[in-house]
Amino acid sequence: MTHIPKQLAGERAAQYVEDDMIVGLGTGSTAFFTIQKLGQRIAQGLKIKGIPTSEQSRQQALAENIPLIDFDQTTHLDLTIDGADEIDPQFNLTKGGGGALLREKIVAQNSAIEIIVVDPSKWVKHLGAYPLPVEVVPFGWQATLKHIAQLGCKPKLRLLSNAPILTDNGNYILDCDFKTITDPPTTEKTINAICGVVECGLFTNLAHRVIIGHSDGTVEEKVL
Ligand code: A5P
Repeated sequence: MTHIPKQLAGERAAQYVEDDMIVGLGTGSTAFFTIQKLGQRIAQGLKIKGIPTSEQSRQQALAENIPLIDFDQTTHLDLTIDGADEIDPQFNLTKGGGGALLREKIVAQNSAIEIIVVDPSKWVKHLGAYPLPVEVVPFGWQATLKHIAQLGCKPKLRLLSNAPILTDNGNYILDCDFKTITDPPTTEKTINAICGVVECGLFTNLAHRVIIGHSDGTVEEKVL
C-alpha cells in the first residue's frame, strides 16, 4: 500500500484538536490534509472555530464548513497546525514557500501550541538550502534587496509570468539563497530590522511539536 507522507502527518495532527478550541489553519499541501480531516470531524460533531493563515486556506475551510473567526474576536488560539519548508533539530523553521509567512507567523505567535506537519524531506541539520522567503513592501524593493544581499545571500524577487507575485497582504516576496543559516534567531532579527522588510520566513522558538509522515506508513512525533 502506498502512503502519502504529507497526508499521514496532516491527518495525525488533526487528532490533537478538541471541542471548543480556536484553531489556526495552516497553509500548503500538508496543512491541506489537516483542514480536510477537520472538515470530516466537524461533520461528525466536532465544535471548533478556525483562523486561516491565508486566503487559500480560508477558501478550503469554507468549503469544509469549518466555522471561521478573525482576530477581532480573539487574540488567543489554542492550537495551530501548519507546514514548513525546512525544520532543524532545534525546531527552527523556514516557512513561506507558499507565500503565506506573515499571516502564518502572526497566527503562530498567538497560539498556545504550534504543531508542524511535514514529510521527511523537510527535516534538515541546518536551515538554508531552501531559499529563505522574505516579505517586503513593494516600494523600494530593489533597495531592500540590496540590504538583505549584504548579509551574504542571493535574493531573488519571486515572479509569476514575469510579474512579481503579490502576497495576501499586497507585498512582494524575495527568496534569499543563504546556502546555510548557522544562527537562525540572529538572522531572523537582523533581516527583520531592515526597513522595507515586513517579515522573514524564519520561525524560531515557535514550534512545540513536529509530526513527520513516512512513506512506509509510520508517523514520527518529536517534541523539544
Ligand atoms: C506557506 O507559505 C508555507 O509556509 C508552507 O507552510 C510551507 O511552504 C509548507 O508547504 P507544503 O506543506 O506544501 O510543503
